[in-house]
Amino acid sequence: MNVLQKSTNITWHRTQVTRKDRESILSQCGTTIWFTGLPSSGKSTTAFALEYALAQRGFLAYVLDGDNVRHGLNKNLGFAAADREENIRRVAEVAKLFADAGIIAITSLISPYKKERDFARRTHAEAGLGFFEVFVDTPLEVCECRDPKGLYAKARRGELKGFTGIDDPYECPPRPEIVVKTHEQAPEQIAEQIIARLIEADRLPSKQKALHGR
Ligand code: ADX
Repeated sequence: MNVLQKSTNITWHRTQVTRKDRESILSQCGTTIWFTGLPSSGKSTTAFALEYALAQRGFLAYVLDGDNVRHGLNKNLGFAAADREENIRRVAEVAKLFADAGIIAITSLISPYKKERDFARRTHAEAGLGFFEVFVDTPLEVCECRDPKGLYAKARRGELKGFTGIDDPYECPPRPEIVVKTHEQAPEQIAEQIIARLIEADRLPSKQKALHGR
């Protein structure tokens, strides 16, 4: 992804508060958990279950959900390839800022193209931030059977053009850090497994934090 730098005469301002300082305030390491998968694969359900499970343990996480972000930050974007690219680029940049702030940023976007997901990964790596790609590997038939918004049905009837999985591509991640099967496991179970991976990778402390006011 090659986005032109249009602004000129800009300077990077340095903060006196280091990332380490912020992370020690929160007792966690800023990290992005990037959920990708077909529409109705269970990305958002799993992402919000993970956010909830983390909050229950006293960790600060925030879900950047595709549908939600398209209500505000990305309301000027549609579903043409260039718009999806820009959608992913912006969310990758926002997730990076959240992770730099010490937060566990959880993104939930179809993010159908490998190139843009790789951009998200690269930009985090360059900033020294953790990045876990989670492939929500739900078969198309299962997603289509769920179809909570009726969009697969619309796409099949030809009333919705360029729908991912029907007449728009989804490129499966070749090497995701984590693969989850929402048709085989409950969201809470998957959330626990992801948290275990974060602890294993030293992104979260193994000792549970004391919760304030709960
Ligand atoms: S992405 O492709 O740019 O990553 P994103 O995750 O933000 O997509 O948005 C997907 C949501 O938009 C879906 O949950 C679905 O409700 C809605 N949507 C509307 N039109 C389409 C389309 N043509 N393809 C996929 N999703 C669509």
